Amino acid sequence: MRGRGLGGLWRALGLAWAGLSALPCAAVHGQTQTTLGRQVVLRADAPSVSPAYSARALYVLHCAGCHGQDGGGSVSARVPDMRQVGRFLRVPGGREFLIQVPGVMGSGLSDAQVAQVSNWVLMNLATASVPPQHRPYEAAEVARLRREALLDVGAVRANLAHQAAQLGWPVAPPL
Ligand code: HEC
Repeated sequence: MRGRGLGGLWRALGLAWAGLSALPCAAVHGQTQTTLGRQVVLRADAPSVSPAYSARALYVLHCAGCHGQDGGGSVSARVPDMRQVGRFLRVPGGREFLIQVPGVMGSGLSDAQVAQVSNWVLMNLATASVPPQHRPYEAAEVARLRREALLDVGAVRANLAHQAAQLGWPVAPPL
């Protein structure tokens, strides 16, 4: 009697376990069958689903924290709206400025990555503001520009913004 009762208990537990293992988590990537049922196993060589070096990923990881996913910036953090940043390119010195701002200079990205993410910003977040004759940035140019830091970012920006406004292409207001 006693043995059968235990056997019934084990069978019931087994059925319950089988039911649990069949739950929708069966679709999770990297699962394997173990003695305890389906489990996710950590793999050192697991492939990344989205490459962390795509231009968009660089923007999300290194810029969006301050500039926002859409480039809209933040009034409280004093980050200007970047969605018309291409207007700087119409003014002498504007092309250099877009690379020499501290957030880009100090990003820790390689010259090629800075060129990549800056081109991505201009082509995706600020598309309509980019003048038609604009040439994309290249790594060698970024390397040269990064050797000269801006001493007074605010003053340089104000000067460029003033010139852009005079040409009829006002940039986002200073914060
Ligand atoms: C720590 C916050 C922060 C991060 C991170 C950051 N920025 Fe900025 N960015 C700013 C601020 C603040 C300004 C306004 C100018 C200034 O004071 O530096 C600015 C200005 C700019 C400008 C000029 C826009 C304008 O209207 O003056 C560009 C272009 C720019 N950033 C690009 C980038 C890119 C590309 C990245 C990522 C590689 C990045 N920034 C990362 C805070 C940041």
